[in-house]
Amino acid sequence: MTGNTQSPIIELTGVTYTLDIVGRPLHILKSVPLQVRPSEVVAIVGPSGSGKTSLLMLLAGLERATTGKVMVAGEDLSTLSEDDLATFRRKTMGIVFQSFHLIPSLTALDNVGLALEIASPQLSLAETRAAATAALEAVGLGDRLHHRPATLSGGEQQRVGLARAMIAKPRLLLADEPTGNLDQKSGARVVELMFDMARKQGTAVVMITHDAALAERADRTLTMTLGELVEAGPAV
Ligand SMILES: Nc1ncnc2c1ncn2[C@@H]1O[C@H](COP(=O)(O)OP(=O)(O)O)[C@@H](O)[C@H]1O
Ligand SMILES: [Mg+2]
Repeated sequence: MTGNTQSPIIELTGVTYTLDIVGRPLHILKSVPLQVRPSEVVAIVGPSGSGKTSLLMLLAGLERATTGKVMVAGEDLSTLSEDDLATFRRKTMGIVFQSFHLIPSLTALDNVGLALEIASPQLSLAETRAAATAALEAVGLGDRLHHRPATLSGGEQQRVGLARAMIAKPRLLLADEPTGNLDQKSGARVVELMFDMARKQGTAVVMITHDAALAERADRTLTMTLGELVEAGPAV
């Protein structure tokens, strides 16, 4: 059973990621042994350009590994077509990336509601809107429901993105610097919501962060250096 709490939700074996840059190989990910279990909160830290975002792209199935196996929720992502990947992503993951934009023509409420409608088409419109409203209230945007993304600040857009990522109660949340654009209070709220998802819903969380206090709270912290991911040693 893929729902078995004993089996990892993420398992990478022998994964590398190499791009061909004008005829020369650029080795972006060299060694990224990674296993994540349901409910686990894993923080990934490391210098800019070390490959952190590339790793999340592979986990989301937005890029394909050059070698090795990316298993997510029991699926080998390399065997899925682009269409199947898109469906799998919507059912399984919440994604909070800077590059994963909101739909500009839709209000905050409709951006979040659409994600739930896709994941749970059996819900009525009223149920979907009520859940989307609650998700936006949870990120502190109850007074911004009818704003389009262009009329929201960067931090507000980021919180709409988080509400959208959380609304379908995904088994896996992937977040690239989720508190990067947020003030301390909004950041703290977002962090609580992510930890709540892990504790109450069993969501596994993999987040990239530069925030040492946030990494400290994670169950595990991994450090990416020049495309190599290693478990951080004990805190000194
Ligand atoms: N599509 C691409 N084309 C060329 N270089 C890339 C591409 N994607 C990533 N890189 C390079 O790979 C390295 C790792 O990038 P990235 O995963 O974004 O690092 P991080 O998130 O740790 O800052 C960087 O040197 C970046 O310039
Ligand atoms: Mg990055």
